Amino acid sequence: MKITTLIPEEEILKRVKELACAVSDDYTGKELLVVGVLKGSFVFMSDLVRSLSIPTRCEFMKLASYGGGRESSGKVRVDLDLSCEIKGKSLLIVEDIVDTGLTLNELKRLLLSRQPESIAICALLDKPSRRKVEIEIDYVGFEVPDRFIVGYGLDWDEQYRYLPYIGVIEDAG
Ligand code: XMP
Ligand code: MG
Repeated sequence: MKITTLIPEEEILKRVKELACAVSDDYTGKELLVVGVLKGSFVFMSDLVRSLSIPTRCEFMKLASYGGGRESSGKVRVDLDLSCEIKGKSLLIVEDIVDTGLTLNELKRLLLSRQPESIAICALLDKPSRRKVEIEIDYVGFEVPDRFIVGYGLDWDEQYRYLPYIGVIEDAG
C-alpha cells in the first residue's frame, strides 16, 4: 500500500497547539470535559489536552455505525459510554475526522439529551465535500480532500494509526 504525506508531523503539531490556545481562551475559568471519540481521536486528543492551559477531565466514547462498511449509516450504537454524569458540564467532543457528519450529529443529539451546559466540537480533519447533514464544527484543524486518510490515529482496516503524519492511500479506490 502506497501512502503519500498530506500533512507532515510538524504542521500537525503546530496546528494542534493553535487549536489548544483557542479552546483554552474560550473556556478560561471553566472546567472542561473533553470527550474523545475512539478510536481515531486518541492521538490527536493526547496532543491537544497536553497543550491546553485549563483544567480538563478526559472521557472517551466508542461508537459503531450500524450497517458496517466505510460509509456512515447515521444510526449510531454506543459501544463505550461516558463514565460520568454530564448534566451542567461544558463538553468538548474530540473527533479525528468529520466526513458525512452523521456520526457527530447523532452523538451530539444523544449527549444534548443529558443536559450538559454546552457542547462544542473539535475535529482534527474536515472533509466538507462529503457532508450529508449540516453540522457546526467549532474548532477544525485542517480541511482535507475526498481521499482516504490515514495516520495520526486514523486507520485503514486498523493499520497505520501509529504514523506521526497524516497521509493518503494512493490506491484506496
Ligand atoms: P461520518 O459520520 O462523519 O463519519 O461520515 C466519520 C467517521 O468515519 C471515519 N472516517 C475515516 N476514517 N480515514 C479514516 O481513517 C478517512 O478518510 C475517514 N473518513 C471517515 C472516521 O472514523 C470518522 O470518525
Ligand atoms: Mg472516528
